[in-house]
Amino acid sequence: AITGYRETERGLRGRAGRALLLRVSPAFPPRRPPRPSAHVLDLLPGGRVGPHVDSVKFCGCTIAGLSLLSPSVLRLQSLRDPQDWLELLLEPGSLYVLRGAARYEFTHEILPDEDSFFGGLRVPRGRRVALIFRNDPPGKNKSLPGPPSPTG
Ligand code: OGA
Ligand code: MN
Repeated sequence: AITGYRETERGLRGRAGRALLLRVSPAFPPRRPPRPSAHVLDLLPGGRVGPHVDSVKFCGCTIAGLSLLSPSVLRLQSLRDPQDWLELLLEPGSLYVLRGAARYEFTHEILPDEDSFFGGLRVPRGRRVALIFRNDPPGKNKSLPGPPSPTG
């Protein structure tokens, strides 16, 4: 779904990372805090994130994205009714939060430069770096190897 990018995962256990976690944690349910690492997505000016819903197997109920460098446009589109959509202008330094219907019932995407408009306003895309914070899905760890069970 993503083109023109590189990505990595960065731990948030250092001073700056812990400060970031403190800032984004209020967007998450107290019982389902963000993982102590961020997904860093470095999108080229010509890159895009195509419409998708993050895997319910690997990600929990809340996704928060911090945008840096270039502004960009995030589009949400209803899976049930494609006529039902909205766009957000992501300014550098802004944080968006996807939860509830926005997390599960709408796709999200970052528009490619040629489609990058907000209302009538052209939003030229430069290099954009996003830090994406996610929590774990419920029930994760249930299948971690535990002590052997009598039934094998
Ligand atoms: C993703 C994603 C959006 C963004 O990597 O799953 O949706 O803000 N990224 O870069
Ligand atoms: Mn996503």
